[in-house]
Amino acid sequence: MDYPKLSAHVDSRKDEFLKELGTILRIQSISADPSKKGEMVRCAETIAGMMSSAGIENVRLFQTEGNPLVYGDHIHAGDKPTVLVYGHYDVQPVDPLSEWVTPPFEPTVKGADLYARGSTDDKGQLFIHLKAFESFRTLFKSLPVNLKYIFEGEEEIGSVHLEPFIRSHAELLNADVVVISDTSMYGRDMPTICYGLRGMAYIELTVENAGIDLHSGSFGGAVENPVHVLADIISKLHDKYARVTVPHFYDDVLDVSKQERGEIARLPYTDEEFLRQSGAVAPYGEYGYTTNERLWIRPTLDVNGIYGGFTGEGAKTIIPAKATAKISMRLVPNQRSSKIIELFETHVQQIAPPTVKVAVKKMHSGEPALTPIDHPAVRAASDALELVFGKKPYFILEGGSIPEVLTFQQALDAPVVLLGFGLPDENSHAPNEHLYPRHFFDGIKTVAVLYEKLGRR
Ligand code: BES
Ligand code: ZN
Repeated sequence: MDYPKLSAHVDSRKDEFLKELGTILRIQSISADPSKKGEMVRCAETIAGMMSSAGIENVRLFQTEGNPLVYGDHIHAGDKPTVLVYGHYDVQPVDPLSEWVTPPFEPTVKGADLYARGSTDDKGQLFIHLKAFESFRTLFKSLPVNLKYIFEGEEEIGSVHLEPFIRSHAELLNADVVVISDTSMYGRDMPTICYGLRGMAYIELTVENAGIDLHSGSFGGAVENPVHVLADIISKLHDKYARVTVPHFYDDVLDVSKQERGEIARLPYTDEEFLRQSGAVAPYGEYGYTTNERLWIRPTLDVNGIYGGFTGEGAKTIIPAKATAKISMRLVPNQRSSKIIELFETHVQQIAPPTVKVAVKKMHSGEPALTPIDHPAVRAASDALELVFGKKPYFILEGGSIPEVLTFQQALDAPVVLLGFGLPDENSHAPNEHLYPRHFFDGIKTVAVLYEKLGRR
């Protein structure tokens, strides 16, 4: 392939590409917010329109009970491999809004970066694939692989409707390899292939007593306080080694070989850089594991938020009716979310006092996944990264989750290649999310080169 021609083409269209990306970044596709249904549809339709203009065919929306799925394909490469590209157009909520330096849905270039909700997670990365396709087609006319695209609008809320869709449309989605750009590079100018993600079990834990707030003078001291009980339960969920105390929580965790731990240890890492990226005060976590091991090969339990009782201005004297905590558990291979939720529920019911009612509600889940590192498609991705970035990629795991990776692997019997171009400090899920445009452009080039490498196999 004429790489200099491709590279020059992408470089000459930088402003245009960022401007077009701006169109979808302006859409407020927050999947967690029921009032944004219209925006979800508008985003799906806008992406479908962009796919058609890029030359992708059979573009259509599949309605689900949730947000629409966007499908398209371009199947003109005969018996060459078929690549399925997955991405998500939904974004996380923007609160706390006051922390944003520029409005989250008004894409703004500041310094080297483009600021907007969804810029890195995942609209920017999804867009890389559309521009790679369009660039390749414009420059070289025919595509060396068959391509299929499936974009969803519910990844950030657990991909509830994608899972059954993949299973019932395995024929439509059938591919030799699935490529996903929704992960991060290990650092700036550090091309990366991710070979595994943690899974997720998300629950809401509620402690309730009277069902109504009680006067704390008339009843305080004579009835149990749900906020106290919730705090007590939460405080008992970890031991002094920062291990989760839920019995059997670790039973199914796959042993990680000495060799793999050695490879993780050989990646460049310093506490200083980790603290810079996170902004945290100090590293912390399970005894006996390094930071990367804590993030990648160990399961966790975290309280995402806790509320209950009176939190307004001034003072109010009540025994709160109830208290709630949102709790996520990140899972590692071979754990299963349904089993973990069961174990959690059994445990809290057991440690909760009989003076209150405790309920565990499942929110969403996703299974952990490992992807092959020795598959020819992974080698093709590695070669493509090496050509564009001028160095061999790092192979890493990630602590985050993409709920349907395992479903893709199982239902389509195809390997998933996690080829991400984000950065760990681009504030995904946080205020002031941004994208580093150079990696965005390099991503477009890498994906176009990948077609060519895959087409040769
Ligand atoms: N892009 C992330 C996944 C990710 C996060 C990959 C960090 C690598 C590093 C994805 O959009 C995401 O945030 N997923 C959710 C899924 C959850 C809601 C089931 C997550 O990990 O919290
Ligand atoms: Zn994402």
